[in-house]
Amino acid sequence: MTHAGFRAIYPGSFDPVTLGHLDLLRRAAALVDQLTVAVLRNTEKTPLFDAEERREMLADVVAEAGLDNVEVTAFDGLLVEFARRRGARVIIRGLRAAGDFEYELQMAHMNRRLDPGLETVFLTPDESVQSISSRLVREIARLGGDIGALVPPAVVPRVIARLGRGTGGA
Ligand code: PNS
Repeated sequence: MTHAGFRAIYPGSFDPVTLGHLDLLRRAAALVDQLTVAVLRNTEKTPLFDAEERREMLADVVAEAGLDNVEVTAFDGLLVEFARRRGARVIIRGLRAAGDFEYELQMAHMNRRLDPGLETVFLTPDESVQSISSRLVREIARLGGDIGALVPPAVVPRVIARLGRGTGGA
């Protein structure tokens, strides 16, 4: 029998991908045979970057990091169904701090109801990136702050171009 290997799925909005996501991605990729990063296409809120742009940025970051067991895809609809189609048995989510916990627990339990065979595994990122979120990256960039230590180098110019600001501007 051929064995496809152990596949996990790391879903998110990634609007944009941050150094926190990259840290988690590296940890997850080291644990499994194949990791599928799944970019949510239809969010309830209007994203700064459309799904294809978010997928492209992630693919660049993954290639730059040399993670050759990671694929980047966009998805619609229920995560559990996408995971099933991809043959993933585990969902990876990051837990930065207590504030993430309630939402993550609710989602993990709901996903378990939808597909009891799929496990959610939580990983914690390095302390040095614990305070980073995509929302704060967007806010800081919009207000002209420096995001150089918050997102991978390839992402900095794309965020600045989208928000029409330089760093440190008035
Ligand atoms: O990065 P985010 O925004 O915290 O990621 C949230 C995401 C994409 C994991 C979640 O919204 C999701 O799985 N959406 C797909 C639709 C779905 O399955 N909803 C039910 C979740 S219990």
